[in-house]
Amino acid sequence: MSTLSKKLSDKQFRQFSSLVYNECGICLTHEKQELLKSRLAKRLRLLNISHKQYYTMVLNDKIERSRFIDAISTNHTYFFRESRSFYYISPDCKHIWCAASSSGEEPYSVAAYCLNNGVKPLIWATDISETCLEKATRAIYPEQSQNSIPDDLLKKYFQKGIGRWNGYIRAKSCLRRMIRFKKFNLLKDVAPNRIFDIIFCRNVMIYFDTPTKEAVIQKLENVLGSKGYLIIGGAESLNGLKHSLKYIEPSVYKKIARPDDSRSC
Ligand SMILES: C[S@@+](CC[C@H](N)C(=O)[O-])C[C@H]1O[C@@H](n2cnc3c(N)ncnc32)[C@H](O)[C@@H]1O
Repeated sequence: MSTLSKKLSDKQFRQFSSLVYNECGICLTHEKQELLKSRLAKRLRLLNISHKQYYTMVLNDKIERSRFIDAISTNHTYFFRESRSFYYISPDCKHIWCAASSSGEEPYSVAAYCLNNGVKPLIWATDISETCLEKATRAIYPEQSQNSIPDDLLKKYFQKGIGRWNGYIRAKSCLRRMIRFKKFNLLKDVAPNRIFDIIFCRNVMIYFDTPTKEAVIQKLENVLGSKGYLIIGGAESLNGLKHSLKYIEPSVYKKIARPDDSRSC
């Protein structure tokens, strides 16, 4: 690598950021130049290529493009994050979508909450990141991640690792069975062919610009049952965006049932 330039020029940054925007809607503003550089560094070192060569590679190679998106997206999440909104999961809820589920902590939390309340929906958990989806499917997490899980739910729905798995916890099969993990790009993919009672799309739209947010909300609205809820992140708002959902409280929106809308929850 020593002979290769480690500098990411403004032009290269613009090329990478427009690729990111077109692929997944994430807006990398100019202040993110250093962030992009540091997130690419490991991959460039491993491949022993320059930014210019890497850009060409990402353009032409679908697998590398997916790795690139993995590297630049922020996957931070934790169990029972902003779980106050789970209150909106109704007892007769049948279909839930966690629409940017990262490494799975969100859907497993939702599943544990549901089972504990006698609700047994099918949970669709989707993300653009294959690495995240692999972690989520394994359902194995470092022990520290249990700190945000309520004690009673931890005991009931998670198992402690032993032997070589000492220091890890795993979501029990009763939770794993409730969830279908699938790759899904909010920007480009066609929404699942079903109607959801509640959709969690949290802490992802914060990275999108207005037209992308509006397109994503429209996509989610289309598959929300009448009187269904859309839950967004605590730091997010639909204020000033085009949509036809009813504001309930911060981060909670409800589908307004049309008189002829027979699609129930
Ligand atoms: C910060 S995490 C949020 C995880 C979880 N929803 C939560 O609130 O804790 C954002 C996730 O959005 C995913 N993401 C980014 N762009 C996406 C897109 N266009 N389609 C689907 N997922 C996307 C990232 O891979 C990442 O896992």
